[in-house]
Amino acid sequence: MSRTPAKAPKDPDLEVTPQEPQRVEIFLDSTLRPSSWKEYVGQESIKQNLHILITAAKERSTPPEHILFYGPPGLGKTTLAHLIARELGGVLRSTSGPAIERVGDLAALLSNLSPGDILFIDEIHRLSRTIEEVLYPAMESGVLNIIIGKGPSARTLELPLPPFTLIAATTRVASLSAPLRSRFSGGSFRLEFYSEEDIAQIIRRSAKILGIKIDEEGVDEIARRSRATPRTANYLLKRVRDYAQLKKIPLSKKTVEDALGLLEVDTLGLTPLDRKFLTVLIERFGGGPAGVGALGAALSEEPSTLSEVHEPYLLQLGLIERTPRGRTATSKAYQHLKIQGAEPQGTLV
Ligand SMILES: Nc1ncnc2c1ncn2[C@@H]1O[C@H](COP(=O)(O)OP(=O)(O)O)[C@@H](O)[C@H]1O
Ligand SMILES: [Mg+2]
Repeated sequence: MSRTPAKAPKDPDLEVTPQEPQRVEIFLDSTLRPSSWKEYVGQESIKQNLHILITAAKERSTPPEHILFYGPPGLGKTTLAHLIARELGGVLRSTSGPAIERVGDLAALLSNLSPGDILFIDEIHRLSRTIEEVLYPAMESGVLNIIIGKGPSARTLELPLPPFTLIAATTRVASLSAPLRSRFSGGSFRLEFYSEEDIAQIIRRSAKILGIKIDEEGVDEIARRSRATPRTANYLLKRVRDYAQLKKIPLSKKTVEDALGLLEVDTLGLTPLDRKFLTVLIERFGGGPAGVGALGAALSEEPSTLSEVHEPYLLQLGLIERTPRGRTATSKAYQHLKIQGAEPQGTLV
């Protein structure tokens, strides 16, 4: 279990998207990543569809068609890509949209694929249009078009590529161009938030792997506060474990409440920023509607962080609603923040 810090200065447990601020949601424990379909809890409809896609492709001895996974961070998109590669017996070549800066970067990736390899592009919404143009013929007809020379004497060289499957993931499907989206002929799958029961099952499995003793009530309490997200569940379990270890107390419901109280994760799993989002929406924007740009400015946060990380869960809980004119707070939000009595209108401070 020991790691080699000298050789690996970056903690392999932490998967951090470089362009985004570090937050609890993007921490990842690679030891907890499911390595079989049986361990991958939930997302039943996606699993069934993938099973059909993969089995049929295997029978035909061709790679499955290209697949897109989308949804909020931490729901299991990258894990699905790993599971598919494992099932196909191919190698998963991982990269991400921001890492592919030049056409040459993509050309190198594509031309180095072996038959049956999977190319995984995370954050595919960050690809530039120029790169997309090179990706289209590769996805559609398995060729790499390289332009040689400039101006009138420029020629296009068509290099055949080995058969491959592209698996892409994004937290921001609305930013994908229509032509790119239409090329995922194997399917575009939206990952759903998990039920509390499924999250509890994930926590039990993680506790077992990490050798953590926790009672059922403790598991349920973490599950309730995990934002319906496996990555958050694993993160909170480890923080609660640390707390119990230091205090030398058993991992009970009370311990979970105290540890998560200290982390300012409330009973609905909201973080301080989630609550600030709601407070600003209610107090400064009279309950809304407010655009995500205005909310971002008021909170000093990237609007994309709000819309990709925070809003999906607030929407899921019914604390906010999305209207054509912006976000509005629901009565549940007022209740949760205990600003009961505050009216949606006229509460401007
Ligand atoms: N369905 C699942 N069952 C069990 N654990 C999961 C599941 N989905 C995700 N996880 C856990 O959450 C972590 C984050 O998942 P990941 O696939 O990296 O999410 P995403 O790519 O959508 O951000 C994984 O390392 C794994 O431990
Ligand atoms: Mg991922």
